[in-house]
Amino acid sequence: MLINPQVSSLTKSATLKITSLTKQIKKQGKDVVNFAAGEPDFDTPDFIKNAAKEAIDRGFTKYTPSSGDNDLKKAIAGKLKKQNNIPVESENIIVTAGAKYAIFISLLALASWEDEILIPLPYWVSYPEMVKLTSGKAKFIELPEENNFKLTPELLQKSITAKTKALIFNYPSNPTGTTYSKKELLAISEVIKDAKISVISDEIYEALVYDKKKHTSLACLNSMQDYTITVGGFSKSFSMTGWRVGYLAANNNFIKEVSKIVGHTTSCPCSISQAAAMAALGEKEWQGQISARFEKRRNLLFKGLDKISKIRPLKPDGTFYMFSDIRETGLNSFDFCSRLLEEELVSCIPASSFGKEGFIRISFSASSEQIKKGIDRIDKFVKQL
Ligand SMILES: Cc1ncc(COP(=O)(O)O)c(C=O)c1O
Repeated sequence: MLINPQVSSLTKSATLKITSLTKQIKKQGKDVVNFAAGEPDFDTPDFIKNAAKEAIDRGFTKYTPSSGDNDLKKAIAGKLKKQNNIPVESENIIVTAGAKYAIFISLLALASWEDEILIPLPYWVSYPEMVKLTSGKAKFIELPEENNFKLTPELLQKSITAKTKALIFNYPSNPTGTTYSKKELLAISEVIKDAKISVISDEIYEALVYDKKKHTSLACLNSMQDYTITVGGFSKSFSMTGWRVGYLAANNNFIKEVSKIVGHTTSCPCSISQAAAMAALGEKEWQGQISARFEKRRNLLFKGLDKISKIRPLKPDGTFYMFSDIRETGLNSFDFCSRLLEEELVSCIPASSFGKEGFIRISFSASSEQIKKGIDRIDKFVKQL
């Protein structure tokens, strides 16, 4: 079969290689510490599961409108208005099969022939691959290490050309865990408005910010609703990765166009998962508890890694990832991760997957016991190099 070159050019990431190696080793009955996880380590809460069971029993098992169930869209718009100060109504929302699909359809709708899509680097693995499936071209903005891998208005300005269509902006960031203050976002938003480009603001980790910092949405800043597609979801905040529910919020015209893509591809997100997401939004306590739990784990991991010579962890403001500098070990990130896994049974993600060498991503979506065990093993591994 002759495959479309756009598809054959997609790369299978190093993340997957490490994940499959981890599975193989686990199958042999070995005790692997999993610092590679991209999802919360605890189960979806019972109140969400019960709402899904109840949805099945009442027959909520048919197609919903392609942009999502009306009550859920209303609830998402209500959440965005109240918590994020984004002035939206349910007409501005599309519920999608995960935030990933929200990003992909937004890119499809934006990028026409040779349009440049700006992607800050290190990036989340799927952004460049998604752009490859559109008519656009990815253009990377190397983020300055000395500024904790944060985008600056100057860097953004320098990267914009007449062909620039959009920026993909993710904060708190996977993989670096950095986030932005309102002041920093305001400065970036001025460049976006001046250049009249669009921005896909991937705020999937918004509920996981630490040190009493507050997440500010780009779209709540002056006039930014006209330029911003806000992407959010339930995977990380409610431990619902397998349910596949996310959403995007944007202006009416964009929503009308993107709804057509949904209507002809997935039809709509799973009705039962939408009922579960509705229950998740009704719960006030859960998010505070989950972020407090992750903050404790972040502190434990940072304290332990910081003591290991040749490893320099970057303390994240949010997410459950600790980006760590391993350059002093002399190993590249893939060799470091595969040897650490084979020799000491600790699984981490090489930053080469995120377009950056010399770093690894250590996930603290693991129990305190596992974190302590993992730190001891990394220490032993580094000492014997
Ligand atoms: C930065 C980022 N955006 C989007 C997603 C996709 O989330 P979802 O499970 O809602 O598709 C992920 C998942 O790992 C992510 O890390």
